[in-house]
Amino acid sequence: MPASPTATPEHIKDVNTRYHDAAADSYDAKWGIDFGDIGQHQVALKLKKALGEMPETLGDTLEIGAGTGYFSLNLATQGLIGSLTATDISPGMLKSLARTAKQLDFPVKTVVTEAEVLPFEDESFDTVIGHAVLHHIPDLDQAFSEFFRVLRPGGRIVFCGEPSRYGDRLAAVPKRTGNLLAPVWRRLVGADTLEHTEEEMADDEHSLEPEVDVHAFVPADLRAIPPRSGFVDTKVNGEELVANVWGWGMRSMESTATPETIPLRWRNFAFKSYIAFQKVDNNVLEPHLPAELFYNLLLSAKKPASHK
Ligand SMILES: C[S@@+](CC[C@H](N)C(=O)[O-])C[C@H]1O[C@@H](n2cnc3c(N)ncnc32)[C@H](O)[C@@H]1O
Repeated sequence: MPASPTATPEHIKDVNTRYHDAAADSYDAKWGIDFGDIGQHQVALKLKKALGEMPETLGDTLEIGAGTGYFSLNLATQGLIGSLTATDISPGMLKSLARTAKQLDFPVKTVVTEAEVLPFEDESFDTVIGHAVLHHIPDLDQAFSEFFRVLRPGGRIVFCGEPSRYGDRLAAVPKRTGNLLAPVWRRLVGADTLEHTEEEMADDEHSLEPEVDVHAFVPADLRAIPPRSGFVDTKVNGEELVANVWGWGMRSMESTATPETIPLRWRNFAFKSYIAFQKVDNNVLEPHLPAELFYNLLLSAKKPASHK
């Protein structure tokens, strides 16, 4: 459910900061974020789909809404990033990113900032990237003019993991089905019911969740944004359909159980089956179906090389 249409930009940004600060420590576990081979493979595939080719390097890279580092750190550890500046509106998420970057031994500069006002000089980066962030930003035109300003001529933007309007509606079906099947599933796998205390239900992560999202995109709307700030060569593609339906169903059931009581065998099955469905999406559906049918949208565009 998106933020109320009457919510002010300040309220949306405040809610995003508090929600993501509260979510930071459990974020990687909740979303199954991996910083090994699987995570690297996933993000490289997204980059290739968004750009239509695999770049040798993204050079000096700025990430917007970097969160705990899923996108940029997984690109960095496979040599696809020269220098990395990771930004986010949530200090908590960046703290978690810095911890992981240290473990991965990749140097990162972290800067707490919102996307619409970037504290960087003109023409300081070769690439501006982001994953699952545009849908949280109140004024996208203002943000894209900032991306354009901080990019060097010929530089590119790459944004992946943006929810499509159709995908958002579609995800409601496995979420409902997962919740309905949850009692039977818990009995079958021997997991205990997770009882939320009133205190937990009132904490920021639970109570603010419905207010953090501002947009769900149709490809035509997303495609229209970069040219308004001067970008050229805009591309929008779609990804993930059956993997997402499956993933939301699994996650909805699992979220009703005490995490420690979910058997490892089940977790392995859920993860492997999700990866198998991702292969069906990659190899069979994505090459043939229109972008709007997919759950996630990928966007890329270029700042003209001759820009002055
Ligand atoms: C769904 S999370 C995605 C995090 C990470 N990119 C990933 O894919 O795991 C969205 C991130 O965007 C950040 N965010 C939300 N609103 C923002 C804004 N206006 N400017 C910059 N970052 C923002 C949040 O704090 C959060 O870390």
